[in-house]
Amino acid sequence: MSNNTVIIGAQWGDEGKGKLVDALTENVAAVVRFQGGHNAGHTLKIAGKKTVLHLIPSGILRDNIDCLIGNGVVLSLSALFEEIETLEQDNVEVRSKLKISGSCPLLLPYHVALDNAREHSLGTKSIGTTKRGIGPAYEDHVARRGLRVNDLLYPDILANKLAELARYHNFQLEHFYKVPAIPYEEALSMLMSYLEPMTPMIADVMALLADHRNKQHSLLFEGAQGALLDVNLGTYPYVTSSNTTSGAVATGTGFGPKYLDDIIGVAKAYITRVGSGPFPTELHDDTGLMLASRGGEFGATTGRPRRCGWFDVPLMRHSIQLNSLTHMAVTKIDVLDELETIKVCVGYEHNGKQLPCFPADINILEACTPIYESMPGWLCSTMGVTCIKDLPANARSFLNRLESLCGIPISIVSTGPDRIHTIFLD
Ligand code: IMP
Repeated sequence: MSNNTVIIGAQWGDEGKGKLVDALTENVAAVVRFQGGHNAGHTLKIAGKKTVLHLIPSGILRDNIDCLIGNGVVLSLSALFEEIETLEQDNVEVRSKLKISGSCPLLLPYHVALDNAREHSLGTKSIGTTKRGIGPAYEDHVARRGLRVNDLLYPDILANKLAELARYHNFQLEHFYKVPAIPYEEALSMLMSYLEPMTPMIADVMALLADHRNKQHSLLFEGAQGALLDVNLGTYPYVTSSNTTSGAVATGTGFGPKYLDDIIGVAKAYITRVGSGPFPTELHDDTGLMLASRGGEFGATTGRPRRCGWFDVPLMRHSIQLNSLTHMAVTKIDVLDELETIKVCVGYEHNGKQLPCFPADINILEACTPIYESMPGWLCSTMGVTCIKDLPANARSFLNRLESLCGIPISIVSTGPDRIHTIFLD
């Protein structure tokens, strides 16, 4: 029987989704990206060798799997080909496996310049974006003036549309942000240089997915970023510009929501955030520094240090609701190995009152105080454990407690970065 699974980041991104997608691709026919762009950074480790992916689905290291990029992804052609060439240098076959929706919005050099100029002009109030141009690319798309991958196939139409865009964005760059314009000719020749290598990979991803479904193949949908970075449902305005929650699978691929079976929310055993925005359980002490250093908490895309804090149950329950999660995958449990006491946030207090749930109002979220439950650590290594019964009793109690506090089963536990450092429970 086929099974269509979605893997979503349940927190603020960087939960270790790429590794789990790679681990789960063994039995699927296709892995599909449906939102975001090259702001994502998915790190895979196989037999000790590390690969970082930004745009290409995390199934690419397996043979005989279609890797699909759905219409919800904003596509930088230069970033895409840089990634393809890096993989090819490692003898990974990419072009025959990768199919890209002709409806993907194209991310242009204007978007990168605008993202940088805006973040700079916001100063201390900046969002802390990855400066990859993601927000401005989505803006052009919803404003219905953007270019899409299919436009490459019609060079005259593309040239006219790009001329309009160049006029529009260059005015803003030069006269509002006072930064250099990007000549239209430069942008056009950059785009056209990718026409030939792109053409064989352009596909009707919606139709390919319908075909897989007719053949009862199993599919895996790979989310990028995390639920709390969703532009509608996250901690706005400190969010990315796409929908990162499971509802985006349907709009970002054309695969209808009723065809989905399992929705797995990936959560770290603690929590991290990159960029600005509220973070109730953030640690500003030695424990936070220890989590950052043991967890290697530096952005896979930007290299920026990640902020670290304790696992947050109200946030997780919120994420379960937003995504209709059927299961949780808990990653990086080994990072907690040396802690004598582990804390978990079980509620929030605001103005002397306990809140019933994760607040929708960011001002309340910023002002609330976490209520913690403490548990004893296990003080031994869980690194690389592959069977639940080989975990120390306190680690199993910690996982059981997370399950009962969150209300959904844990189906996977990740005990290290390698594909094999994984416990499958369900
Ligand atoms: P943007 O997506 O570059 O516009 O950045 C908006 C916010 O999303 C910033 O706080 C980024 O740090 C965050 N962000 C974007 N991509 C990722 C990711 O892959 N992991 C974690 N945070 C991300």
